[in-house]
Amino acid sequence: MRYKSQKVAYWFFALSMLLLTLQIVYGFVMGFDRIGWQGLHDYIPFNTARAVHTNLLVMWLLSGFMGAAYYIIPEESEHELVNVKLAYIQLIAFALVGVAAIVGYHFNYWEGRKFLEIPRPLDWLVVVDVLTFLGLILATIYAGKKKTTTSLVLAMGLLFAALLYLPGMIWFDNQTMDSFFRWWVVHLWVEGVWELIMGGILAFLLIKITGVDREVIEKWLYVIVGLTFISGILGTGHHYYYIGVGKIWLIVGGIFSALEPLAFLGMALFAVAMYRKGEKKHPNKIALSWTLGTAIVSFVGAGLLGMAHTLPQVNMYTHGTLVTAMHGHLAFWGAYAMIVLAIISYAMPNLTGRKLYDSNRGVLAFWLSNIGMLGMTVAFGVAGVAQVYLERKVGLEFGVVQQEIEVHFVILLICATMFATGICLYLYEFIKYGTPNDEALQLN
Ligand code: HEM
Ligand code: HEM
Ligand SMILES: [Fe+2]
Repeated sequence: MRYKSQKVAYWFFALSMLLLTLQIVYGFVMGFDRIGWQGLHDYIPFNTARAVHTNLLVMWLLSGFMGAAYYIIPEESEHELVNVKLAYIQLIAFALVGVAAIVGYHFNYWEGRKFLEIPRPLDWLVVVDVLTFLGLILATIYAGKKKTTTSLVLAMGLLFAALLYLPGMIWFDNQTMDSFFRWWVVHLWVEGVWELIMGGILAFLLIKITGVDREVIEKWLYVIVGLTFISGILGTGHHYYYIGVGKIWLIVGGIFSALEPLAFLGMALFAVAMYRKGEKKHPNKIALSWTLGTAIVSFVGAGLLGMAHTLPQVNMYTHGTLVTAMHGHLAFWGAYAMIVLAIISYAMPNLTGRKLYDSNRGVLAFWLSNIGMLGMTVAFGVAGVAQVYLERKVGLEFGVVQQEIEVHFVILLICATMFATGICLYLYEFIKYGTPNDEALQLN
């Protein structure tokens, strides 16, 4: 690292890893529920576990993005963070709000809106916290010597993500209206502004790891930002097919969302092209694997598996089934989980001065988690297709169908164990790196 204040990033990464661990625990609770092992049912019923699982996911990713910004922005702007103490306060506040929300869910203190379960009073605390974070990032860019495209795209993604949280806080007593604006948060995050955050982090990593000229890398970044906006904004329509809004969305949503994979394809081609063009001299091969991996797996999970159910003719059958869970897992994993794991793998040796990137454990962590997640995706997919046929073609009862497809969750659990073993190895490496120290200054 070059700037002392980059050390803040470590603590965001550590929080992120802790929340990831908890997310996986709740994933297992649900997996076991699905095969009838429901010992925890009285304390953690399925719906609670589901909300906790998905909210922890969003929280660890946000914590990872914030850590990434605290690491990247000082280096790109060539300026220390403007206020380090405030960054630590912001971290602690973020963790406290998160814990309060998660504990609250266990006592039915929540809103029943998928992904946006956090109750309104806590929402406001999230807003204050994120504003503090953004203030620190934007002020550092403003004070810095350089304003690079990479840092601006990253900051723009973070700023828009914060703004788009607000439509989800408007109160409606109409289900259609509520659903309409809920998607402004959920869809426009993952298929819009988070892609900018991902693009910014990816560009930073490629500049550092491949050694290709910044000008070349940042030109690609413009293309990706363009493709994201052209397809992603009106692509929101793929959630408006049958929610009670106008029929026009069938066409608009169908066409524009079918273009969305292009942005992910762009990212995959971009990363592979830069790797091939680069000098291949950077010693941190594990960070390179995660960087190329995120670009490729996001294309498969978000692009291809998103495409699989985005046309209205298909979505009419697959909506809200395990086909959605299939896509949700590989898309979140490929695009956002892997980019966070990539920046952590890159940053840890620089923050701590310990070069542990030669280990087989790191390589094993990469492959086990990826193959495990692919297996889980296939298990969800097979269960999902069976569910669609039995429930929506044959017309069997929901509960009867869920019992019919139970066996696929045994496979899911086996693959999830492989996945979790990979993550444990990753965490072991993370812990072995230890905490950051000033002796690591000037390392890159
Ligand atoms: C990294 C990017 C993406 C992530 C993380 C992601 C994740 C998700 C998640 C979690 C859901 C369930 C949301 C809910 O029901 O509240 C969902 C739904 C959906 N996604 Fe994606 N997605 C991504 C990109 C895409 C793309 C590019 C497409 C289209 C090409 C797509 C098509 C869909 C469709 C059609 C649904 C609705 C499924 C339903 O009706 O149940 N997604 N996505
Ligand atoms: C041990 C690992 C995991 C297991 C066993 C697991 C299991 C599950 C289960 C059973 C569900 C509920 C599906 C249903 O409605 O029946 C679920 C939902 C979900 N999980 Fe996981 N999960 C794991 C890890 C992950 C990871 C690492 C991610 C993200 C990278 C993730 C993202 C999601 C998402 C986005 C949903 C909501 C899907 C939807 O909207 O339909 N999970 N998970
Ligand atoms: Fe969407």
